Amino acid sequence: MTTDENAGDEQALTDFGYERVPWHEKRDRVRGVFDSVASRYDLMNDVMSLGLHRLWKRFTLARTGLKPGQAALDVAAGSGDLSLGLARRVGAAGRVVVTDINARMLAGARDRLLNAGLVGNVAFVQADAEALPFRNRSFHCISIGFGLRNVTDKAAALRSMRRVLKPGGRLLVLEFSKPRLGALEPLYDLYSFQVLPRLGRLVADDAASYRYLAESIRRHPDQDSMLELMRAQGFERCECFNLSAGIVALHVGVRL
Ligand SMILES: C[S@@+](CC[C@H](N)C(=O)[O-])C[C@H]1O[C@@H](n2cnc3c(N)ncnc32)[C@H](O)[C@@H]1O
Repeated sequence: MTTDENAGDEQALTDFGYERVPWHEKRDRVRGVFDSVASRYDLMNDVMSLGLHRLWKRFTLARTGLKPGQAALDVAAGSGDLSLGLARRVGAAGRVVVTDINARMLAGARDRLLNAGLVGNVAFVQADAEALPFRNRSFHCISIGFGLRNVTDKAAALRSMRRVLKPGGRLLVLEFSKPRLGALEPLYDLYSFQVLPRLGRLVADDAASYRYLAESIRRHPDQDSMLELMRAQGFERCECFNLSAGIVALHVGVRL
């Protein structure tokens, strides 16, 4: 894994899946991936996870601690699954800000929430997780679902999210992690590197983006490294919940 110590170094390389690319190029490469898959993103999520992503997101939403009337932020919101759940939790008296770096994905989220009748107290902002354009101490809860893996400088993103959390506020990081599958591990690899890209070609006409998905999962910090990264950026009471044998993990941290 490339460390975030390279941040700002124009000569430094970072991971884009298994490829090594200049640090400053990763953001555009990631944008290319999500531009390509945006129109089939939701269908592909259901197909490749056999619907499990809905359970992982439900588990996450149950740990927001949000109450009606509070403020929540969804970072790297994609097509807005978590945003929708946050909006339902804070209700009409609350406020939700939905952000993503990619305009197409954000447009999908806007349609999704408008169709669900969630207007008025929901705002949509195109923003990079590394430099969130919000005031210090604005939100009671922040979620980032399957987004941190794609961010170039993960430490900067964690600091940025911590900055805009209110004291006592909670960060929820839902992300693929290191599974403990024992004898089934070769099957997981087979699925990741053989089946996923083929599904990507069939469903989204894009094998490369789903090969990137499999590779980027392998490059993402494992459960314990994520806990360390969060603590190093000032989060406290950090906890990790393994889901589906650690294929996915939810990390929770509090800004005190
Ligand atoms: C795999 S999707 C996840 C979407 C949604 N949160 C979900 O759980 O289904 C990852 C999202 O992260 C966004 N993203 C990637 N890099 C980002 C960054 N630096 N800042 C904000 N969003 C980013 C992408 O545009 C994409 O919409």
